[in-house]
Amino acid sequence: MRYGLYGSLAILIAGFTGLGILLAPPVTLAPAAEKPEAAEMRDTAEIEGQRARGAYLARIGNCLGCHTAYSGFPYAGGHILDTSIGIFITPNITSDKETGIGLWSEEDFWRALHNGRGRDGNLLYPAFPYSEYTRVSREDSDAIFAYLQSLPPVRQRNAPNRINFPFNWRPLLHLWQLIYFSSGIYLPDTLRDDEWNRGAYLVQGLGHCNACHTQRNILGISKGDILGGGQLMGSNWYAPSLTSLQEASTADWPIEDIKRLLKTGSTSRAVTTGPMANVVSQSLQFLTEDDARAVAKYLKSLPETEPRSRGIAPPLTEEVDKQLKKGGQIYETYCQDCHGNLGEGAPGSYPALAGNRGVTMASPTNAIRSILNGGYAPVTKIQQRPYGMPPFAQILPDGEIALVWLGKQAWRDSMAA
Ligand code: HEC
Ligand code: HEC
Ligand code: HEC
Repeated sequence: MRYGLYGSLAILIAGFTGLGILLAPPVTLAPAAEKPEAAEMRDTAEIEGQRARGAYLARIGNCLGCHTAYSGFPYAGGHILDTSIGIFITPNITSDKETGIGLWSEEDFWRALHNGRGRDGNLLYPAFPYSEYTRVSREDSDAIFAYLQSLPPVRQRNAPNRINFPFNWRPLLHLWQLIYFSSGIYLPDTLRDDEWNRGAYLVQGLGHCNACHTQRNILGISKGDILGGGQLMGSNWYAPSLTSLQEASTADWPIEDIKRLLKTGSTSRAVTTGPMANVVSQSLQFLTEDDARAVAKYLKSLPETEPRSRGIAPPLTEEVDKQLKKGGQIYETYCQDCHGNLGEGAPGSYPALAGNRGVTMASPTNAIRSILNGGYAPVTKIQQRPYGMPPFAQILPDGEIALVWLGKQAWRDSMAA
C-alpha cells in the first residue's frame, strides 16, 4: 500500500493545483502580448505532437484491441478476456472522470504501465501485459496518457471480473509480483545499432509479443524461452516459436518479406490467422516504415533455438498409408479447389499448404483450428478484402479433419525441400 491514501491525496492536491493554474484568467500584458502568444502556440504544437505520438504508440501497444468491447466505444472497456484463471472484463480507460481514468495523473498512469499498480494502490493482474509494458520509457508512457486523456470521455462503468477462487483475492498479486515480476525500462544494447535497439524496444515492450509467444502455466507464469512459442491461455491457438526455423522464426527471410508480414499479415510464405490476424489488423499494420524495418531487423537477429515439441512422423505402415490416402481424398473433395492439386495455393489469394509451417510444424493446433473454424487473413489498409476460408466443423467429422491434416503432413518431406 505504498501509494495509499496519502499518495492519492498528494496527487489529488497536485492535480487541483494544476487545474487552478489552467483555469486562472489569462494575464494580459498589454503591449508585449506577442511573446506569451507565441509561447502558447509553441505549447499547443508541442501538446499536439505529444498526442499524435501517443496515438501511434497506443496502436503499437494494441490498447484499443483489449480495451474495446465488441462493437463498443473505443477504449471504454468491456472487452472479454478469457484466461486460465477466469474471465477479465477490461476497464474503461477513456477520460471520463467517474468511470474512466479522467482523474488519473501522468504518475498514476506510469505506475499502472510500469509497476502494474492501479490508482487506488491495488496491484493489477498480469492479464494486462505490464510484464512487457514495464520496458516502455517514461516519455512514451506520458505520450500515451496525453492521447488517451484527449479522447472524448465515455461514461461506462466497469463490469466486475469473474476470476476463480482463490485467484480472485487480489492481494495474492503481491506474492506473484515479488517472485515473477521485475519492473525496468528497456536498456539499449550498446553493441548493437540504433535500428536494432528500436526493434528490440518495440518487440519487448509495447508490442508485447512475448505475452503470447511463450509457454505459460495456468497462472500465466512464463515457463519457456522468451519468444520460444506456447499455447495461448484460454484459447485453442498455438503462438509458434519466433526463434525456431521449424515454426515461425524469420531469421532466413529477407527484411522486406518480414516487413510485409507485419504490415499486411500475408506473404508468399505465410498467412497470419486467428489472434495473430487481429494483432496485424489492429496494431502492426500501422507501424511506420522505419519501425517495421527495425522490428524486422530485430526478429531476424533472434538466435535460433530448438522447437519445444518435435514432430512425431508416424512410420509408414499399411494402416498409416490407408489413412493418408483417405486424407488425400477428403482433400481432393473439399480443399483442392482453393489450395491447389499439390497444395501449391494461388499467390495473393489462397495460401500454399505444402511447405507451409502452419501445417508442417509439430503442433497441429492452428491447422486444425483453421479447418474447423475457417477464417480470414487480416483486413489492412493494403488488403481491405482478404480471401476467406470456410469453416468445416459442420461438414467434416473430427476424425476426417485429423486425416486431412495427416495427409498434408506427408508434404513436409516432399515439398518443403
Ligand atoms: C491483453 C489485453 C490488454 C492489453 C493489450 C492492454 N490492456 Fe490494459 N488492462 C487489461 C486488463 C485485463 C486490465 C485489468 C487488470 C486488473 O483487473 O487487474 C487492464 C487495466 C489497465 C489499466 C488500469 C485501469 C484501472 O481502472 O485500474 C490501465 C491504465 C490500462 N490497462 C492501460 C492500458 C494501455 C495504455 C494499454 C496499451 C499500451 C493497455 N492497457 C493494453 C488488459 C489489456
Ligand atoms: C494475442 C496474442 C499474440 C500477440 C500479442 C502476438 N502474436 Fe504472433 N502469433 C500469435 C498466434 C496465435 C499465431 C499463430 C497463428 C498464425 O500463424 O497466424 C502467431 C503467429 C505469428 C507469426 C507467424 C506467422 C505465420 O503465419 O507464419 C509471426 C512471425 C508472429 N506471430 C510474430 C509476432 C510479433 C513480432 C508480435 C509482436 C509485435 C506478435 N507476433 C504478437 C499470437 C500473438
Ligand atoms: C474457398 C476457398 C478455400 C477452401 C475450399 C479451403 N480453404 Fe483453406 N484457406 C483459404 C484461405 C483464403 C486461407 C487464408 C485465410 C486464413 O488462413 O484464415 C486458408 C487457410 C488455410 C489454412 C491455414 C494456413 C496458414 O498459413 O496458417 C489451412 C491449414 C487450410 N486453409 C486448410 C484447408 C483444408 C484442409 C481445406 C479442406 C478441408 C481447406 N483449407 C479448404 C481458402 C480455402
